[in-house]
Amino acid sequence: MQTVDSNWNVPLWLLHNEKITSLDPLKLDDRLEQLHLFNRNADTDAISQLLYLSLPLPDELSRFSYETSIAAMRDLGFFIGILKKHNIEPVEAVPELEYVLLELMSKTDLPPRDTLLHYTVWNPCGPRMRTYTGLNDEKQLIESVQIAVPSLLEAIVQLDALHEEKLQGLEFEKVCSQLREKMEAMVQGVVHAKRNVSPMVFANELRFYYDPIKVDYNKDYIGPGAVEMPMFVFDHLLWSCDYSDPAYTAFKEGYLPYSLRSVRDIYWRFHNKASLLSRVQEQLEENPCLDTLQAAQAVLDLCTVLKSFRMPHKKLAESAYTQDDEHHRNNGSGGYSPAILQHIIELQNEKIDSLQKSTIKAKTQHFTNQ
Ligand code: HEM
Repeated sequence: MQTVDSNWNVPLWLLHNEKITSLDPLKLDDRLEQLHLFNRNADTDAISQLLYLSLPLPDELSRFSYETSIAAMRDLGFFIGILKKHNIEPVEAVPELEYVLLELMSKTDLPPRDTLLHYTVWNPCGPRMRTYTGLNDEKQLIESVQIAVPSLLEAIVQLDALHEEKLQGLEFEKVCSQLREKMEAMVQGVVHAKRNVSPMVFANELRFYYDPIKVDYNKDYIGPGAVEMPMFVFDHLLWSCDYSDPAYTAFKEGYLPYSLRSVRDIYWRFHNKASLLSRVQEQLEENPCLDTLQAAQAVLDLCTVLKSFRMPHKKLAESAYTQDDEHHRNNGSGGYSPAILQHIIELQNEKIDSLQKSTIKAKTQHFTNQ
């Protein structure tokens, strides 16, 4: 089955997604209101029955195209998240679900459950938008990810290509500045969530829909939280693929399976390679001249966008997690506490500071030699 193109082109991929968002293979358009009602009434038997009714028969499932399979997984995700919020393992409640999830996994080359991509970029906009709750806060949270994902994916592809180019000169500086502009979408996503998603609603309602479920011999598969965004792949190429930190490596590799095959391939190509930051730092230390200094400055400027995303995002996460008035749970959808956010910030800052120091040293050397 064809999944994604090997010469992955993000604008074309986005265009192709419109086909997916238009599909409704499980007739959820007509059932969503009912599902929300059952959810509000905590009527878990009715939710399980509706899920059972929505499952495709094996014959029908075997004829599903890639696009239909993605749309079906997306829509099953809403039943799954709602059951889990009511402390029910979906596959235990409806055993027939497991076969469907495993078939959809093999047809789409993604995990045997919905991911952040299903929940956001493959979710239709407007009145057909699928949600767990129907709450405006949830719709706005989906939108905040929709704002960020396309540019993040484009930035990853562009950064991958930049590694093949000469790492100095006007063209290099121009691409660094374009990457910085693209990554601004991550900042905008956080600003959108801060303005439109109540921390109280997130902490006491929304986050429980993103809990892990058990599929395929009781393996845990995490729900579609924003943490699945491949921001860590951008980090990997920019500063972290040659940084040995067991906690961050486990974090990156834990979330990698929830990304598209093309993104996973990019990640593994950089395994044990030098990051862009290290390469630029090395050329600066070997030859401190105006060109290598300007290249280092371009990378430092690009890195500021990581800080502009991560500092406000950490504040947002912490403010939501202090609102938890009933459940006393401190972990996010991926099982991490907000402390992981501080850890990533410290690693990132250590690498940026190190390049900053090399730049100051190189400047001194360059100007004393003149
Ligand atoms: C109410 C809003 C939000 C809250 C409470 C929140 C909370 C969290 C928490 C607790 C984590 C730690 C990992 C885990 O979940 O297990 C995390 C990670 C992450 N979140 Fe959010 N988040 C929110 C919105 C967003 C938005 C809007 C974006 C992007 C546009 C985003 C992107 C990320 C990313 C990329 C990570 C991985 C860590 C990193 O790279 O720094 N989050 N978030």
